[in-house]
Amino acid sequence: MIAPPLEATALTKTYGGVHALEGFSAAFDPRTITAIVGANGAGKTTLLDCLAGRLPASSGAVYLHGQPATTMPPDKRARLGLGRSFQDPRLCDGLTVLEILSLSQRVLGRPLLRGLWVSRRSDRARRLNATLERFSLVSVANERLRTLSLGMARVTMLACLFISEADVWLLDEPASGLARAEVDALAPLLRSLVDGSSERSVILVEHDATLVQRTADRVILLERGKAVEDASEGSAAWHDIVGGRRSAARSVAPVRPISHPDRDATSVSTLAGRDLHISYGKFVAVRGVSVEVPVGEIRCLIGTNGAGKSTVMRALAGLLTPAAGSITLDGGRVPPTPHQRVVDAGIVLVAGGQTVFPNLTVSENLQLTRGGPLDVLDLFPTLALRQRQLAGTLSGGEQQMLGVARGLQLSPRFLLVDELSLGLAEDVVDRIILQLTTLVSSGQMGVLLVEQDYSQALRWSSHAYVLAQGRLEFSGPSEDAEKRPDLFRPVFLPEAPA
Ligand SMILES: Nc1ncnc2c1ncn2[C@@H]1O[C@H](COP(=O)(O)OP(=O)(O)OP(=O)(O)O)[C@@H](O)[C@H]1O
Ligand SMILES: [Mg+2]
Repeated sequence: MIAPPLEATALTKTYGGVHALEGFSAAFDPRTITAIVGANGAGKTTLLDCLAGRLPASSGAVYLHGQPATTMPPDKRARLGLGRSFQDPRLCDGLTVLEILSLSQRVLGRPLLRGLWVSRRSDRARRLNATLERFSLVSVANERLRTLSLGMARVTMLACLFISEADVWLLDEPASGLARAEVDALAPLLRSLVDGSSERSVILVEHDATLVQRTADRVILLERGKAVEDASEGSAAWHDIVGGRRSAARSVAPVRPISHPDRDATSVSTLAGRDLHISYGKFVAVRGVSVEVPVGEIRCLIGTNGAGKSTVMRALAGLLTPAAGSITLDGGRVPPTPHQRVVDAGIVLVAGGQTVFPNLTVSENLQLTRGGPLDVLDLFPTLALRQRQLAGTLSGGEQQMLGVARGLQLSPRFLLVDELSLGLAEDVVDRIILQLTTLVSSGQMGVLLVEQDYSQALRWSSHAYVLAQGRLEFSGPSEDAEKRPDLFRPVFLPEAPA
């Protein structure tokens, strides 16, 4: 009997007394997409880390193509065909698509004999071109990853796995932060990668219920580190897990705090950036951008990777000084520094894990900003259970929650949120948006959201700013932006590769 490409038996990972993963057993078959689903903090990334060798398991075993691999170093696992996508594809954003693909080919590719290498050179070039074509990356081959949409950056990562000839793929949230159209294109692409190969096995950690529903042959549900359900496609349990998650998701009604046309604009407290020009050394990141954040509205700032969104947010929060242009609060200039004066003005920037202190515990992080009227632990019960844990060891989604919790605790007048939904389970995102809507509608706060999933951002906001390569392409009602698909290119080409 041929051994399955990957198998885990009674895999367990413990921290102190806490089981991040407990007794996980499964064999992953070839030509199969297995989705691993579960709430934030359920143990999904821990499982992938133990399978990939990034974390040593506390007990249990891993087999790769029948070989014991429990203590095998990650590079040896890679040589045996195990490939892993990064949760954040922007890790190597200074490289071009072509560079990163050829690196994957060289570093991860099966070793060839020295003599063969020369004669195979043209093969390598051919394979490189074929890969660019297969993944619809030809037109962006010489673009740096940082200038691509998150969707295309993620497809580039898949192309890396493909060209590395890995046959077991571990994918950690490939759809996170993608626009709907991009997820719709990703599904057939993933499917074709598995159907078109005799041996490829994909293990997919994913919060996006639609992607799971459209691609998975099998779904394993993790709850607090334990596999509580293991169901194949079409079974009643499969529908329970995938269907249930899907209908529960996105149940929040679209929220568009009304901007009153008759309202005297000058009477509304507003944070405004006017004609901002911002550079990093010689690189001009933002050119002539104007944005306004009035109290009582949720507005969004959207655009591809590297369009300058985070730069604008940092400037509004006083963390960067624009080379030209002004940042004003209620008409007067906001002193950009010292930072405390920005905080006093009620401007708060939340940027996921970047705005938590990794070496402080959850409760220490929250104590630093205590004073707000809001009980954030009611909003995030998960955090209540993890108060004594160091923030740096929280799961991706838990860190994101902590960042938002800290921001809300400061009771900001202007809340700037960079990448709200990244890595969060859909129900958590919806809960946060509901909370923001309540605060905004009661006139306590204005919100500016940077969001990769522009279709959601447009539903949540009343006004949209679309940035492309540092310039404002669009500013207007979100409803109008929804009718302008031309604003949101490039998404990768939606046809499934042959
Ligand atoms: N060093 C640690 N000490 C204590 N607990 C830890 C440590 N590292 C991880 N954990 C906990 O283990 C649990 C599982 O984490 P993991 O990253 O696997 O979750 P996840 O399912 O990937 O979540 P997400 O969807 O948010 O990415 C989390 O609750 C996390 O807080
Ligand atoms: Mg994770």
